[in-house]
Amino acid sequence: MTRRVAIFVSGGGSNMRALVEDMTGDHPARACVVVSNNENAGGIAWARARGIATEVVDHRPFGEDRASFEAALNAALDKHTPDLICLAGFMRVLTAGFVGPWQGRMLNIHPSLLPKYKGLNTHARALAAGDTEHGCSVHEVTALLDDGPILGQARLNVADGDTADTLAARVLVQEHRLYPAVLRRFVTGEHGCLNVNAE
Ligand code: GAR
Repeated sequence: MTRRVAIFVSGGGSNMRALVEDMTGDHPARACVVVSNNENAGGIAWARARGIATEVVDHRPFGEDRASFEAALNAALDKHTPDLICLAGFMRVLTAGFVGPWQGRMLNIHPSLLPKYKGLNTHARALAAGDTEHGCSVHEVTALLDDGPILGQARLNVADGDTADTLAARVLVQEHRLYPAVLRRFVTGEHGCLNVNAE
């Protein structure tokens, strides 16, 4: 049975696009909805243009009331009966109340070699630490930020002269390879860690 995947974005959604573009042909999953907290997210416009269902739940009217924001997210999601959620540059922290029922069925991509550099500014932090290796990780989402079992990592060598921007761009290329590869494996029940090295 085809698995239904909800993809959450906050920005341009290039990882979402990589996932959608991979979910064709004999792929055992399809995107059923793209969800965003931001009406102006580039990923929302792209999904609409492709005829993919979208839902926007603006977090701002909810202020600090995360439970109500997450209830609205769940109400929007329920219309599309997803089996899985892929967070793809979704920049809101989800609480245990939301994550709990989805645990084991929700993935995230993060631009660092977890467990290093949870949170923001990962590229600058890797450079500041003098790391010679950097990359990205796909992991199962738990109630702890950027935590949970790691399902795949892509590594690259930090080059002389790399800046946070050049690293971000190079890591993003790897994200677009890694996330679709991990999702394909995940939906067929393979939960071991996939290790990929940049060419
Ligand atoms: C990606 O680099 C993703 O790993 C990162 O945001 C970017 C979104 O780009 N996510 C996080 O930092 C989450 N903690 P995209 O909108 O083009 O996919």
